[in-house]
Amino acid sequence: MEKFLFYLITLSICAANAAVLQNPASIVNLFIGTTDGGNVFPGATIPHGLIKVGMDTESSHPQAGYDSNPFVPVTGFSQMHDSGTGGGVPLSNFKIFPLDSCSSFAECPTDIFSRATQRKIRADGTADDSASPGYFASNLSTGIRVELTATRRAALHRYTFPASSKHPRLVVDLTNDGGTSSTNPTMTIDPASGRIIGGAEFAASFGPGRYSVFTCMDFKGDGYTLGSPTEFGAYLGSSPIKNTTNINQLYFGFGSELGGLLTFAPNPKSSNGKTPSTILARVGVSFISTTQACQNAASELPDFDFEKTRQTSFNEWNELLSRIQVDTTGVDQNTTVLLYSSLYRTHISPADYTGENPKWTSTEPYYDSLYCNWDTYRTLYPLYSLHDPVTFSRIVRGMINIQQHEGWLPECRGATAQNFIQGGSNADPILGEFFVKFNEHAAALNVSASDLYTALLADAEVQPPNWDLQGRQANVWKSLGYIPSDVWEPSGTNTKQVSRTLEHAFGDFAISQVAQILGKADDVVKYQKRASNFNNVWDPSITVPGGPGVKGMMQPRLANGQFGFTDPRHCSINDPTSSTCFLDAHNTDGFYEASPLVYVPQDTAKLIALQGGNQSFVSRLDFIIDQGYFDVSDEPSQQIPYMYHYANKPGLSTQRSRQVIAEHFDVTPDGLPGNDVTCMSGAMASYAFFYLAGMYPLPATKQYLLSSPYFPQISFFNPLFNSTTTIKANGFKGNPKNGTGGTVFVQSVKVNGQPYKSNCYLDWDVFTNGSLVELQLTSNINVTCGTGPNALPPSLSTGGYSKP
Ligand SMILES: *[C@@H]1O[C@H](CO)[C@@H](O)[C@H](O)[C@H]1NC(C)=O
Ligand SMILES: *[C@@H]1O[C@H](CO)[C@@H](O)[C@H](O)[C@H]1NC(C)=O
Ligand SMILES: *[C@@H]1O[C@H](CO)[C@@H](O)[C@H](O)[C@H]1NC(C)=O
Ligand SMILES: *[C@@H]1O[C@H](CO)[C@@H](O)[C@H](O)[C@H]1NC(C)=O
Ligand SMILES: *[C@@H]1O[C@H](CO)[C@@H](O)[C@H](O)[C@H]1NC(C)=O
Ligand SMILES: *[C@@H]1O[C@H](CO)[C@@H](O)[C@H](O)[C@H]1NC(C)=O
Ligand SMILES: *[C@@H]1O[C@H](CO)[C@@H](O)[C@H](O)[C@H]1NC(C)=O
Ligand SMILES: *[C@@H]1O[C@H](CO)[C@@H](O)[C@H](O)[C@H]1NC(C)=O
Ligand SMILES: *[C@@H]1O[C@H](CO)[C@@H](O)[C@H](O)[C@H]1NC(C)=O
Repeated sequence: MEKFLFYLITLSICAANAAVLQNPASIVNLFIGTTDGGNVFPGATIPHGLIKVGMDTESSHPQAGYDSNPFVPVTGFSQMHDSGTGGGVPLSNFKIFPLDSCSSFAECPTDIFSRATQRKIRADGTADDSASPGYFASNLSTGIRVELTATRRAALHRYTFPASSKHPRLVVDLTNDGGTSSTNPTMTIDPASGRIIGGAEFAASFGPGRYSVFTCMDFKGDGYTLGSPTEFGAYLGSSPIKNTTNINQLYFGFGSELGGLLTFAPNPKSSNGKTPSTILARVGVSFISTTQACQNAASELPDFDFEKTRQTSFNEWNELLSRIQVDTTGVDQNTTVLLYSSLYRTHISPADYTGENPKWTSTEPYYDSLYCNWDTYRTLYPLYSLHDPVTFSRIVRGMINIQQHEGWLPECRGATAQNFIQGGSNADPILGEFFVKFNEHAAALNVSASDLYTALLADAEVQPPNWDLQGRQANVWKSLGYIPSDVWEPSGTNTKQVSRTLEHAFGDFAISQVAQILGKADDVVKYQKRASNFNNVWDPSITVPGGPGVKGMMQPRLANGQFGFTDPRHCSINDPTSSTCFLDAHNTDGFYEASPLVYVPQDTAKLIALQGGNQSFVSRLDFIIDQGYFDVSDEPSQQIPYMYHYANKPGLSTQRSRQVIAEHFDVTPDGLPGNDVTCMSGAMASYAFFYLAGMYPLPATKQYLLSSPYFPQISFFNPLFNSTTTIKANGFKGNPKNGTGGTVFVQSVKVNGQPYKSNCYLDWDVFTNGSLVELQLTSNINVTCGTGPNALPPSLSTGGYSKP
């Protein structure tokens, strides 16, 4: 009891000294990563909203619709987007576009290219756009101001036309999604109210599937009675046909551009020449029906109240972001902006489509935009564990529910369709992460442990009809212990064999961790053994040009046990043949988005032994980073800068990870390492977040690798435990700009006043209990993990995970 009081006092003293941000949502910069292929969505959404309403542009990378380059014309304001994805252009359905100055209804430029308009450009050369959590605004060169806000399943648009506007008009574009893929459009206009309902089928952006989606739009004057539209009609291309109420009245064909055009009377007060006409457009969306789209809009935005909706959305963001607090004393404002903007982007996707799953009926949550688990399992979910376990549990329930209806856990999923698998079937480590951290609370979070385990086993054991979409090439995995490069089966593509081997080994590691907690001793043995299967593709003879001493590497292997050969430089900047290893590449080399110099987090001790000991392991890490094999934008590389920890050189991890931030992340529109289109923003955002927090997570384990935060203090409030854990960096002297040197190295660690077993990692119970973690910083890079038996972070082969 006395001890307990002591903690409380300590914590309140810390809180009193700290410069805490009251409204972290207000410093989020939504424009980071919004040009040059960062593909970040800067529009309006609530956390994990289905609706992500935003600007669409003629960008060469329109994956999230928007491009901050002011010279890229605007084509509309559509209701749904993804953020930070590669692949095809997803969603971007049902664009609205305001027109002010067509000479007549029939001559309005309704088709997407004719209507495209630039934004106003500010004196500093940037586009006149602004955004904050839950809100987006832009001034178009036509003088029309556009503002957007959102609830989960409905968007509210506010179009302010110039006071001089005689005929404010809105185009409702039904068919142009991001992939221009629509078929089977339907649309009707109600001449009395102006209500437009409709829908179409569209193509999934990263897979072979198609989906149907529906909308319901209503219009209202802001501060005046709008009345019926003065003109209305459906359009085909750039031909609006007055008085038509249904696109079936037009002679359209496959690929036609279709939609509706409405003209409204101006605000009666605009005759004073000063009062503008402001029209609110309320847009419901549903994957079920137009009726449900109308219900979604009516129930979530009953009174078209823009300011209230914007404030509610902002408050929701602010509460979520406030769970993580930093002391900003002595910290550059950009660093704080980067931290919270990254945290913000971790809650855009997955999207909560609960109630909108057209494929089966269930009362379980349904989350979509899993794009893809391969990208996100490493860092996104371990971040949710720290501050948002309820959302995490709902996503897990949704995944289990998908397995129950489709047979396998989802990997990639977008717009209700199955998308392509990347490296492996990586829901396994996500479910593992949830269960390792929250098994004692699973029932309270409505997650069934037995259903979770059944779902994992289905993934691990049962070969699916198409492993390009879900599941694994399970039969050879079970019989050979690796994915061979020369076994062709009808149910999937024979590519990425080495990457799949490494990912499946990690998936089986995650399962062994769950089995451990469930007390399934035989399964623990079985899946730990399979977790070591990465060993089966280790060819000890491989060397790499320019890397003396670097010997042994992952390599493709034939079914008969012989090794194939993939140049270790493959798919790196040093690759003499400049091959790529994306999904669309002719991937015969066995690797996906990484060179053969890849790593397996569950057993680094074994990896060190395979590589000839600590010193050569460290030299190899240096080689990988210094020679450009480390690719920050591709996820298999992500852990590499922190792996010095395992060779008892955590100071090097601290410096390397800080150099990564210094070199690759800033707060500008091209401030993300998006030199390609693979930086799923939740993945990059959670990665940057952890580096700034001075941690790196090990998914499906109880450990977080530890370094120093960029703040004198950072705290994590976990609403499930109602507890706050604070990491305090004693001796904090700021952050070296280039990431090199500084008083940033962790010399010793105390938890609740007691010396901790390691300077290199924190166990999960530190976060559940609500602890005060005190780091002593030093400028000496030669710090160690400590001297005790548990100082080094755990590895499988050293028994680190044998105890639950
Ligand atoms: C647009 O113009 C209005 C004034 O009409 C101004 O208040 C606003 O800041 C401008 N920019 C944005 C992005 O809304
Ligand atoms: C549309 O309907 C209005 C009102 O019924 C009528 O006055 C007008 O002539 C019609 N226009 C066309 C082009 O059919
Ligand atoms: C913050 O970032 C902006 C944009 O990169 C840069 O112009 C500014 O100099 C930075 N501020 C500091 C104090 O580093
Ligand atoms: C779990 O289910 C119960 C009963 O349906 C419900 O009251 C509770 O809010 C749920 N908890 C969570 C975290 O979803
Ligand atoms: C690496 O160093 C650690 C601690 O310094 C030691 O426990 C471990 O045995 C070493 N590993 C190898 C393979 O030498
Ligand atoms: C959470 O903890 C705070 C004190 O830290 C306490 O005031 C509050 O009542 C707790 N809330 C719940 C729901 O237990
Ligand atoms: C990083 O900055 C420090 C201090 O400004 C400087 O001494 C050092 O040379 C720089 N190092 C690198 C690698 O740029
Ligand atoms: C957290 O609480 C658990 C159970 O009460 C205890 O065993 C553990 O030692 C505590 N950990 C810390 C870091 O205080
Ligand atoms: C750290 O160790 C390296 C290599 O042993 C040595 O050169 C360097 O001087 C040491 N740095 C400090 C600050 O002790």
